[in-house]
Amino acid sequence: MTEPETGTTTGTSTVAAEPVLSMRGLSVDYLTDTSPVHAVDDVTLELHRGEILGLAGESGSGKSTLANAVARLLKPPALVTAGEVLYHPAGGGPVDVLRMSPKALRKFRWRELSVVFQSAMNSLNPVSTVGAQIDDTLRAHDTTLTAAQRRERAVELLRRVGISADRVRSYPHELSGGMRQRAAIAIALALNPEIIIMDEPTTALDVVVQRDILREISALRREYGFAVVFITHDLSLLLSMADRIAVMYAGQLVEVGAARDVHDVPSHPYTHGLLHSFPKLRGPREELLGIPGTPPDLRDLPPGCPFHPRCRFAVDACAELTPALLEVHSGQYAACLAHDPASYGAPVPTELSGEGSGR
Ligand SMILES: Nc1ncnc2c1ncn2[C@@H]1O[C@H](COP(=O)(O)OP(=O)(O)OP(=O)(O)O)[C@@H](O)[C@H]1O
Ligand SMILES: [Mg+2]
Repeated sequence: MTEPETGTTTGTSTVAAEPVLSMRGLSVDYLTDTSPVHAVDDVTLELHRGEILGLAGESGSGKSTLANAVARLLKPPALVTAGEVLYHPAGGGPVDVLRMSPKALRKFRWRELSVVFQSAMNSLNPVSTVGAQIDDTLRAHDTTLTAAQRRERAVELLRRVGISADRVRSYPHELSGGMRQRAAIAIALALNPEIIIMDEPTTALDVVVQRDILREISALRREYGFAVVFITHDLSLLLSMADRIAVMYAGQLVEVGAARDVHDVPSHPYTHGLLHSFPKLRGPREELLGIPGTPPDLRDLPPGCPFHPRCRFAVDACAELTPALLEVHSGQYAACLAHDPASYGAPVPTELSGEGSGR
């Protein structure tokens, strides 16, 4: 289940896909009073340097748990039960994130990786101005800067995310929801990290503000070169901004590939269902397939493929065999028996095969 090196298409240029972060066989349980909730189950995934990787999936599919495991933000009853997370610093050997000392972890968080959550109110301090919060972050992690340099940097960071200099002295409650989210992004950028994890950063905002912020994140990424893990349950949002997309279902990675490939030829029935669950604004009208049923209980997954009870392509074997994440097209992987004809025993459904898609 290891992803080979592939190229990431960014705009018109293809850059070498060098990992900045890799998850290998990562599993996380929530140890509840009853049986454990398998929130993340054997996930192997790479974040490439400088890319925007979109992480999609229904509510409860394990997206935030995966992100929090990577950022070392899990709290009991969450427990990493297997696997590893490696950070690959530029020009250095890999560092095991899950075994970092508290000192190394302090440096890793903020300087190398920072997180933006859905609700900026949860990450901003209500009794401190946004300027002071950037200043605090800079002072805590970069002792070489003078007060004047920190002030200059705070103004510059706010300007970069579309907040004017006179807002430096504003308190979070004096800002709109969109402005607060921009301020949270400015703080995340303060130490110029290589990785930014954004967990539904725009979900609570209206669509126009959301689009503006997404455009700015893309522009900032081009300028600063950081990599982004962008989490949302809105796959259509990711298609317009992500380089690659990873789709989770019931704690497992079911598909990963270049955004264009995932859009043009979704290779897992779940991705296919997600893509057809909303009406298209442009293009020919299509049947709204949606996805019948509800996600499984993560304490007690069905045997075989966890998606098979909801899958319109399922055959008998899907209730017995657990599909591996197989490469179905260059750089595109799907965990579906339909791509493993020896087990599936039926022709690959044309919807999942790319037949007629021109590739
Ligand atoms: N503290 C907890 N104790 C027990 N189970 C938990 C806990 N936190 C999360 N879970 C369960 O773990 C699973 C994954 O949750 P997670 O929050 O990672 O999903 P998500 O994909 O981020 O969902 P959403 O889109 O709603 O944010 C869910 O079934 C959830 O109920
Ligand atoms: Mg979440």
